[in-house]
Amino acid sequence: MAACRQCRLCEARKQAVLGVGDRAGDWLFVGEGPGAEEDQCGEPFVGQAGKLLDNMLAAIGLKRGQDVYIANAVKCRPPENRTPAPEEMVACRPYLQRQIELIQPKLIVALGRPAAQTLLQAEVKIAAARGKLHDYHGIPLIITYHPAYLLRTLLDKAKAWEDLCFMRRTMAARKGG
Ligand code: URA
Repeated sequence: MAACRQCRLCEARKQAVLGVGDRAGDWLFVGEGPGAEEDQCGEPFVGQAGKLLDNMLAAIGLKRGQDVYIANAVKCRPPENRTPAPEEMVACRPYLQRQIELIQPKLIVALGRPAAQTLLQAEVKIAAARGKLHDYHGIPLIITYHPAYLLRTLLDKAKAWEDLCFMRRTMAARKGG
C-alpha cells in the first residue's frame, strides 16, 4: 500500500495512511480518506473529526486501539479534502477488502457516504441507510454520519447517538449477550 500508484492520489500524498488500532478488533470503523493532518502523521482521524470520533467511541465504551480498528475508504489524501472520486475508491477497494479479511471484525461501521458506497457497492443515502443492519459478505454493517459532517450539522448529532446505541446493541447480540 505504501508504494501504491494505482490512482492519481499518490501524486500529492506525503504518505499512504493505512489504518490504526487493534488488528484483531471486533469493531472496524471506516472513514472517507485522510485529511492534511492524517497525511502528515500517518494515522487516520487525528484532526477535529478524529476528536469527535474518539468521543463517539467513548460514548459507547470504546477506545481507539482497544478492540477497535480505524481505516479509510481511500488511503491517500484527496487534494483540498475533496471527496474521493469513484475511480479512486475502486482502485483502493482491494486494500480495504484485504484489511477486512485480515481483521475479521464482528461489526463494520461506515462513517459517511463514500465509505458506505465502497463497502456496499451501491448508491447510498445516509438518511435512508442509517438505522438498518446491512451486510458486507456476511459481516453486519451499520451506516452512520461522518464525524466531519456532524461537526457542521449539530442537529444530526441526536441521530448519530441513536446510531451509536444501535451499534452497541448489535455488537452485544453478536457476542451473545
Ligand atoms: N476523515 C476521514 O474520513 N478519515 C480520516 O482519516 C480523517 C478525516
